[in-house]
Amino acid sequence: MFVLGIETSCDETSLAVVRDGKKVLANVIASQNRVHQKFGGVVPELASRAHVEVIDSLFLKALRDSKITSREISLIAVTASPGLKGSLLIGSTFGRALSFASHIPLTEVNHLCAHLAANFLIEKDIKFPAVGLVVSGGHTNLFCLESRSKMKILGETLDDAAGEVFDKVARVLNLEYPGGPSLEKVAKKGDPLAIKFPCAYLGKKSLDFSFSGIKTSVIYYVKKYGSSGDIADIAASFQKAVIKVLVEKVRRAVNLKKTKTLLLGGGVASNRVLRGEMKKFALAEGIDLFIPSPILCTDNAAMVASLGYYLYSQSDQT
Ligand code: KG4
Ligand code: ZN
Repeated sequence: MFVLGIETSCDETSLAVVRDGKKVLANVIASQNRVHQKFGGVVPELASRAHVEVIDSLFLKALRDSKITSREISLIAVTASPGLKGSLLIGSTFGRALSFASHIPLTEVNHLCAHLAANFLIEKDIKFPAVGLVVSGGHTNLFCLESRSKMKILGETLDDAAGEVFDKVARVLNLEYPGGPSLEKVAKKGDPLAIKFPCAYLGKKSLDFSFSGIKTSVIYYVKKYGSSGDIADIAASFQKAVIKVLVEKVRRAVNLKKTKTLLLGGGVASNRVLRGEMKKFALAEGIDLFIPSPILCTDNAAMVASLGYYLYSQSDQT
């Protein structure tokens, strides 16, 4: 079954064709980095316009890459929420129009669950229940996955998302947009033990997150000492603090759900230090860890198509 995935929730326009929820035949991604770079962050109106400009040609390219015709598409999966309203509207309108004109069923997909579904694109045996951590630019959530199509939120950020603090701290340090990857690069040269930034755990049992304290303390540190001499140390110490919290929250969720399966997803999951720390944790605890390849961690339509497939085939059975 060929599923067309459509993703336009933020600043990437992506269309993909995935066979049977697993095999990626096409995954075309147009990044809007150049559009937003000079503003230091995503400008919603410009994002919507940029989606409109490229969505038709990306659709045609996805068909070409996958060597199928539009008649062979059996299902359209489109990101419906969460995301920028105007941006989401472009993808869902495109999907609906195609669905209506070509009589193809359409499934709406939650963007955060789709980030975890990026792990379904690998041919591997995933045992459920599983714990899933989504770390993206707009969200930080822990999920319990009962199956590929049933996911429940266990915890979420009470203020900034993990990716958001990477982006904001990168801006304070005058690093290039997008901030997350720039900060990771600079942090490589720094000492993660140089500065102790505060980690918020919100009590012993909480599965929620709070990153605004770490962010504020980096801002104060930079104001007090200037950012000239030790940017790399600041970046490395900040990165370490965020990752420490993420690992601890995952540990709590895994213990609570008594599971031995952990899935990661979202743009921040492409961070090499985070991947390394999660691998260490999983190895020590005997947990099966799944992390998508970096290109499938950031926004893409293949993950949307995969989740759409599982949601649709599940609803067909019931
Ligand atoms: O999942 P995503 O592509 O879009 C959203 O759904 O938000 O995530 C984008 C976020 C941005 O905040 C970006 O700075 C962050 O992921 N990010 C990273 C890295 N690559 C992307 N953060 C830390 N280290 C990275 N290597
Ligand atoms: Zn995302």
